[in-house]
Amino acid sequence: MKVAVIGTGRVGLPLALSLIDCGAQVLGVDLSEQTRHAINVERRMPFDEPGYDELAASGKLHITGNIRDAADCDYFIVTVGTPLRAHIETDLSFVTKVIESICEFLAPGQTIVMRSTTAPKTTAFVASLIESRTFHKVGRDVFLACCPERIVEGKAREELHQLPQIIGTEDSASAQSAERLFALLGAEPLHCNWATAELVKLFCNVSRYAYFGVINALSMIALDQNVEPHEVIELANRDYPRKLHGKPGFTAGTCLRKDFGMLAENYWSGGFLTEIWRINESLPKYLVDLAKNRYGTLNGKRIAVLGYSFKRDADDVRDSLAPKLIRYLSRETPASIVVSDHHLSVNHIEPCPGLQFTPDMDTALRNADFIFIATNHTLYIDQRDKILATVNRGARVIDIWDTCGQNRATIDTESLARQKSFQLRRTAA
Ligand SMILES: NC(=O)c1ccc[n+]([C@@H]2O[C@H](COP(=O)([O-])OP(=O)(O)OC[C@H]3O[C@@H](n4cnc5c(N)ncnc54)[C@H](O)[C@@H]3O)[C@@H](O)[C@H]2O)c1
Repeated sequence: MKVAVIGTGRVGLPLALSLIDCGAQVLGVDLSEQTRHAINVERRMPFDEPGYDELAASGKLHITGNIRDAADCDYFIVTVGTPLRAHIETDLSFVTKVIESICEFLAPGQTIVMRSTTAPKTTAFVASLIESRTFHKVGRDVFLACCPERIVEGKAREELHQLPQIIGTEDSASAQSAERLFALLGAEPLHCNWATAELVKLFCNVSRYAYFGVINALSMIALDQNVEPHEVIELANRDYPRKLHGKPGFTAGTCLRKDFGMLAENYWSGGFLTEIWRINESLPKYLVDLAKNRYGTLNGKRIAVLGYSFKRDADDVRDSLAPKLIRYLSRETPASIVVSDHHLSVNHIEPCPGLQFTPDMDTALRNADFIFIATNHTLYIDQRDKILATVNRGARVIDIWDTCGQNRATIDTESLARQKSFQLRRTAA
């Protein structure tokens, strides 16, 4: 079986390597010279994704920059980006360009698999594009399936085999063809039509985005009342079966931050999601204002920001809310802002006047007056004592994730003492 994976990014590259591991002959296609160089020449993953280093080093995957090299493949899996434009509109230009290129050589018997996240009716648009650019009829001459990717970054190696595979098709030949492809991975096939597959994927992400939005709203409402959100969540969930989901914190990343837009763009009933977007997006500024309200001005202060990637223990900065936090902090004209993230290098950091970067947490903590924890990396949980030690010399920690385990969104000497006496009373009771 010859497979072309078009767009070997965070989704396409692990998939390509897993398919090779399962016996397929795979050709990657990507416009990025950096990605091609990493795989073809250096034989290394261009980003962190556990479990793939050996496969990348094996040299079994080649990535070409010319899609025509893939013309004789049985399958074309489309894994290019589907970002939102600046306003509420999905950018389908990457998908359109790839499909138009495939149409230049598409031959009877070949199958196109749409794996990028798309709004309902996008696969129908792709079918109509194919039929308008070729003499082929989808379902008769060539085949088309919508098989969205549902893995989470960091777990691709296991989840590509474990998660059932949604296979959206409108005819049985396309369904069978797509099922043969994913049988290689051993994924259980779940058949449906195009729009159902698109909606399944979208709502997997949108529901996560929404429940983080609810928890973030709870947190901001609670903090306005001088109530600790983590205490509300803990009490609400203790021995209660219908639990609140998630923890407060920066909710973003390339998928969650955009996928709701595909619904808000197309359906009036999706409009409520824009309000959830506003809630999640307002958290960085809210935390800057919270620090000011509780501790006074940030002007002239030395600030450390711990974490910059959009999610815990990842090296992916796309659509992270940390740069937004830093932009708001810089408006307060502090003496310095030092950002630290041991998963990243300085090249990942968006330039901002006066901003310094260090991968070393200790360097960032040294002399900081305020410490904002932007990402809940495991390192900060493991080394919370070091962070808390800064409080004893007068630093203030803004810890919406509760990485320090104090049940406090802001930590200072007073709140530390209160927490200690609360724990003592609890132990005594
Ligand atoms: N990242 C995730 O965890 C995740 C999970 C599930 C679904 N998705 C969805 O999968 C899709 C891809 O996401 P991603 O995170 O892998 O994006 P990405 O930006 O990491 O990868 C896309 C790749 O496509 C390449 N590309 C763009 N145009 C091309 C073209 N014309 N020909 C060949 N290559 C081209 C880019 O160079 C890039 O390497 C998106 O629709 C996304 O929403 C992502």
